[in-house]
Amino acid sequence: MSKLWSGRFTKETNKLVDQFTSSISFDQKLAKEDIQGSLAHVQMLGECKVITTEEAKTIQAGLETILQKLEKGNIEFSVEHEDIHMNLEKLLIDEIGPIGGKLHTGRSRNDQVATDMHLYLRTKIDELIKLLEKVQLAIIDQAKDNIETILPGYTHLQRAQPVSFAHHLLAYFWMFERDKERLQDSLKRVNVLPLGAGALAGTTFPIDRDRVAELLEFNSVYPNSMDAVSDRDFILEFLSNASILMVHLSRLSEEMVIWSSQEFNFIEIDDSFSTGSSIMPQKKNPDVPELLRGKTGRVFGDLIGLLTVLKGLPLAYNKDLQEDKEGMFDTVDTLEGSLTLLAPMLDTMKVNDKTMRKAVTQDYSNATDIADYLATKGMPFRQAHDVVGRTVLYAIEKGKYLLDLNLDEYKTFSPLFEEDIFEVLKPEHVVGARKSKGGTAPDQIEHQLKLAESKLELQFNA
Ligand code: ARG
Repeated sequence: MSKLWSGRFTKETNKLVDQFTSSISFDQKLAKEDIQGSLAHVQMLGECKVITTEEAKTIQAGLETILQKLEKGNIEFSVEHEDIHMNLEKLLIDEIGPIGGKLHTGRSRNDQVATDMHLYLRTKIDELIKLLEKVQLAIIDQAKDNIETILPGYTHLQRAQPVSFAHHLLAYFWMFERDKERLQDSLKRVNVLPLGAGALAGTTFPIDRDRVAELLEFNSVYPNSMDAVSDRDFILEFLSNASILMVHLSRLSEEMVIWSSQEFNFIEIDDSFSTGSSIMPQKKNPDVPELLRGKTGRVFGDLIGLLTVLKGLPLAYNKDLQEDKEGMFDTVDTLEGSLTLLAPMLDTMKVNDKTMRKAVTQDYSNATDIADYLATKGMPFRQAHDVVGRTVLYAIEKGKYLLDLNLDEYKTFSPLFEEDIFEVLKPEHVVGARKSKGGTAPDQIEHQLKLAESKLELQFNA
């Protein structure tokens, strides 16, 4: 099979080389973007009289035909034509004859492939933002149902202070909000057009890059042709943002695994989102959050992989750059799969509010409130901390919790204690007293929920 670049060669390519250098097995994912870019390029070529309007129309019609065949699944790609760009060009020439060979005037695969990836990521980032919003919506729904649900808040995985479950869940809302902002912001750099850079130095043809940018809805063109063909920062940025997002998914997943353990029993993951064991009939395993947690590894790997490919590459295009794609596709697929699962898993998650409540009545997580109580009555906080430390030690030795001690026992630690201490120590009071901005008190959570909803509305209306 004769290659599009065979002119300079006297021998057929070794089949092993074809296999090794070919990217068609994976870059066929860019077929639509490649055609989209070609349609704009050829229109510009016609408008700039680089080719005739007739020729431009014929090529565009040919590309449309190929697009339709592609959508019907009627296209076969070949390894001999190496990548999606040359495969599509070959198909075009087969479709409309030698005139199809005019499509590649004034461009190179180097600016072409970069353009395809900009187009691809732009679409995918928009889709991922929408998927993130579904997760945020699921968080808001669960939070609304659980403003009054109290569980221990942890530091060092030791019970620290009681919090509302809504508050705990909403912490993830804000992580995902920042992920969204980062993705949104990265679009500034995705929406820049490489096409027209040629192989590396620009082109001798009187092209109009701004017109192509306009047709493809990019905000600007790369000001430097060498940067245009060798820049992969926009993919690195995407993979970095994806890695941070995966950290958030993984942390939430880890909590779901812990919470659904028999030891905690704070939540139950719905049967439809759980799996069983092939040997232990009693098991119901949190495979989904575990796998979400595990998939973080491949996304980090994709980021490190591309960083390593780029490090030390001289300008401009090098074949190494072909290694930019599989990691990017893998990360997009991983995020799509993970986010798509997370939203319904959160929606269907059952919250065991009674177990959570039992936990906060069987611990010392209200100790800070006794110290605050004494401090409010005038005792310096550091001294109050010491008094309560000794009170807790006394209670532990007696096998009691802080609400079980009587007033006489309290008074042996400080005369400032009065009957009202028992009200202060109740979980609702402990949570309700944290009214500082961003705190876990119900009115603050209501406020937070409004803010969270307004963020979603903004995105929906944008
Ligand atoms: N398949 C190539 C890639 O993905 C396209 C660019 C090829 N350019 C070249 N000069 N060999 O990087």
